[in-house]
Amino acid sequence: MCGIVGYIGKSQAAPILLDGLAKLEYRGYDSAGIAVFDGEDIQVKKATGRLKVLSELTHDGTTMPGTIGIGHTRWATHGAPSDVNAHPHYNKERTIAVVHNGIIENYVKLRTRLQEKGYTFVSETDTEVLAHLLDYYYTGDPIETITKVMHRVEGSYALGIIFKEHPGTVYAVRKDSPLIVGKGKDGNFIASDVPAVLKYTREVFFIQNEEIAALTEETITFFNIDGEEIQKESSMIEWDINAAEKGGYEHFMLKEMYEQPKTVRDTIAPRIKDGKIVIEELGMSDEEIRAIKRIHIVACGSAYHTGVTAKYVMEDMARIPVEVDVASEFRYRNPILEEGALVIIISQSGETADSLAALREAKERGVKTLGIVNVVGSSIAREADSVMYTWAGPEIAVATTKAYSAQLVAEYLLAMKFAQVRGMVTEEEIEGMLRDLQRLPEQIEMLLNNKEKIQRFANRYIAAKDVFFVGRGIDYAISMEGSLKLKEISYIHSEAYAAGELKHGTISLIEDGTLVAAVVTQEDLYKKTISNIVELKSRGAFVLAVTNTGHTEIEKSADYVIYIPQTNKYFTNSLAIIPLQLFGYYVAVGKGCDVDKPRNLAKSVTVE
Ligand code: G6P
Repeated sequence: MCGIVGYIGKSQAAPILLDGLAKLEYRGYDSAGIAVFDGEDIQVKKATGRLKVLSELTHDGTTMPGTIGIGHTRWATHGAPSDVNAHPHYNKERTIAVVHNGIIENYVKLRTRLQEKGYTFVSETDTEVLAHLLDYYYTGDPIETITKVMHRVEGSYALGIIFKEHPGTVYAVRKDSPLIVGKGKDGNFIASDVPAVLKYTREVFFIQNEEIAALTEETITFFNIDGEEIQKESSMIEWDINAAEKGGYEHFMLKEMYEQPKTVRDTIAPRIKDGKIVIEELGMSDEEIRAIKRIHIVACGSAYHTGVTAKYVMEDMARIPVEVDVASEFRYRNPILEEGALVIIISQSGETADSLAALREAKERGVKTLGIVNVVGSSIAREADSVMYTWAGPEIAVATTKAYSAQLVAEYLLAMKFAQVRGMVTEEEIEGMLRDLQRLPEQIEMLLNNKEKIQRFANRYIAAKDVFFVGRGIDYAISMEGSLKLKEISYIHSEAYAAGELKHGTISLIEDGTLVAAVVTQEDLYKKTISNIVELKSRGAFVLAVTNTGHTEIEKSADYVIYIPQTNKYFTNSLAIIPLQLFGYYVAVGKGCDVDKPRNLAKSVTVE
């Protein structure tokens, strides 16, 4: 969702800006633009559609001279994707240019006031008010001007700003939208996310809410909202640039699926010491764990789906009541958060606006919060009382795979820890579970290596109109994610249903040949789901079953069977999801879809 880059240094800015924007493409966008100071004026180029349109327009940036500039990929919120709505936006004289990620909530009021003062607006965006507001408050001192604007705007923003009268500085400021500063050798950078600067530097500063950064070619200075200079520590990014490159795979999604064994291993390994589960970062004593009365899991999208799995696992294993909510519902439903509640926010990016708001809501009500987050230093990671990181590394494909898998195992560990401390499992059971947990990476690898079988099957369904996913219990949670994977990247309509609910409506949608993927990994529910398969078959469905090795008798009921290796009943999601991810991927590839950047979707949804 909207990407920002900025550069000031010795090199030509435009090619660097385009290169940085390309690294942020995964966030989702529908237009792009750059502004560069050419020594005399601020030049702006914008283009609707893919970044390559802008690259062609500027000959990869080479036709735009100048060594200072800002760039933006826009994911339309206010006003359709168009050249005029694309950023950067600027004031009438084009002496101030600004790029923005976030939403200015009081922009209508601000626009009316500015119009009354004679300002004319050319776009439908909320961002344009910022350009005119910066003009209106301009005192000749950019920091003073920016702080005045900060006091007037409500909402969320990460901004990159250049002033024609201060051609030696790029300004950046943020509130509730991500922004980092990169300190390079021959210049400095701003960006929405680390991959945009990794080619040039590993040293970054995480800008906090209501902080301003002023970057010259050689210096980086930070200020608070009162315009006072503040000191900040930089961090070194440890992961390799290759982690954010495709590395020979056709798509980031495929590469990231293949990284799942490592991701799962990296997330588990630091939490098992001498055969014991140690989650130091939890920051909860055994007594506090025993005192938990209710867990609220809050998340969006796939992270929510891992939360649904975690509900089944935690309730059954640790006997703690668990509620799961999508964050956009939780934040507005006046949830009952009583003493003894623990709110767990799950988020890959750590920046999802609704999840962040839900976290703040929980904190305001004084309950303990825990973030399960992938991006180190992200807003949710910083604001939650404690944070358990998933060590998945940067995830670029919009459709999550490896972060999803890492979240699952983090949640299993948490459930095991809680169950153990609360005396709900024996030492032997924990030992058995740990053995199964540690085998997951090689089992995932095995399933990935069987991809051709899934690919062949997927090729038969590229023309499908509807596909259903069904299961019970944990298998229902797996179905939800399998269905989402398919629909988000292949644009095929798909729904997940609790198998027992089929008879209450969904079954009327089944026609001759309708594909239904049935997930059947829970032994105690096996017979029940088989009955549902039989019902579906008798209405003409073509049933693909995903089940545990050994259940060969399922071949009598289902048309096509994929077997997953044996594991603990709580962990089957980690294995069953692999063929379903591959299925969604190969259907989308077969249809020629833009797998890594599906239409209308954003990786990191930083607006409500
Ligand atoms: C977007 C992404 C999903 C992701 C969801 C939640 O919709 O496309 O892949 O699951 O946001 O994101 P988060 O970063 O909070 O996990």
